[in-house]
Amino acid sequence: MLRIKSIPAALAVGVLAIFTSINTASAEMASVQTLASPCAGCHGVNGVSVGPATPSIAGLTEAYFLDSMATYKSGKRKGTIMSRIAKGYTDEETKAMAKLFASMKFGRTTQMSDAGLAAKGKELHAEFCDSCHEQDGRKADGIGVLGGQIAAYLDYTIADFYSGVRTMEKRKAQKMNAFKAEHGADGIKAVVQFYASQK
Ligand code: HEC
Ligand code: HEC
Repeated sequence: MLRIKSIPAALAVGVLAIFTSINTASAEMASVQTLASPCAGCHGVNGVSVGPATPSIAGLTEAYFLDSMATYKSGKRKGTIMSRIAKGYTDEETKAMAKLFASMKFGRTTQMSDAGLAAKGKELHAEFCDSCHEQDGRKADGIGVLGGQIAAYLDYTIADFYSGVRTMEKRKAQKMNAFKAEHGADGIKAVVQFYASQK
């Protein structure tokens, strides 16, 4: 008797557990949307920025997103605004947002670009940048997206790398320094125009 009774009881517990986990999952999703809603004010709806200098963040990989937030938080990566914002979220909350933004499609905003400079930039990118920033800088794998990113953001980010405000790993520094030595400010302008030209 006991056994027969305990089967439906176990089933009921199982079903209850399933319902509970569904409810918890959807409650979590709702709260991630709420957590991420202030981001839209600067990064655009669904993480697609319309400028003027704020980057798009949709489609960044979880690894890159988490690394960015962690280094803003620790102060290793300087941000005009993000250091303060990153400190406002727990690791759990940041992880949930990383998943959310990684699930969105990187959006390319139409930007003004100079076709002549972009063509020169395409060649320079192939020579100096594409070994890591593959697919014309569109590949996000742990590295950020360059192709279609907001031009003014790229301008000051590149300046931050050269001034040491944002640190570079050794291989990147070697390529970036060789690039600057050979092509200077005009070369930088050209690659940025190439990225800005991508729709
Ligand atoms: C007040 C404007 C503002 C708000 C709000 C804001 N950001 Fe940012 N975000 C920026 C700016 C500007 C940068 C460029 C770095 C800097 O100057 O701080 C940036 C950079 C980033 C980057 C780095 C992108 C890259 O390609 O390396 C990530 C990731 C990011 N923000 C995530 C978020 C998230 C998540 C939220 C919401 C919790 C958020 N931001 C809210 C302005 C904002
Ligand atoms: C050896 C590999 C390597 C090469 C070559 C390289 N990069 Fe990078 N780049 C990286 C890595 C890794 C990151 C992410 C760094 C970080 O998170 O701090 C990055 C980040 C960037 C960012 C910031 C993206 C963002 O969303 O904030 C820009 C801009 C950039 N690189 C431009 C360039 C340009 C322009 C070239 C060629 C002149 C270049 N890189 C060559 C490895 C490389």
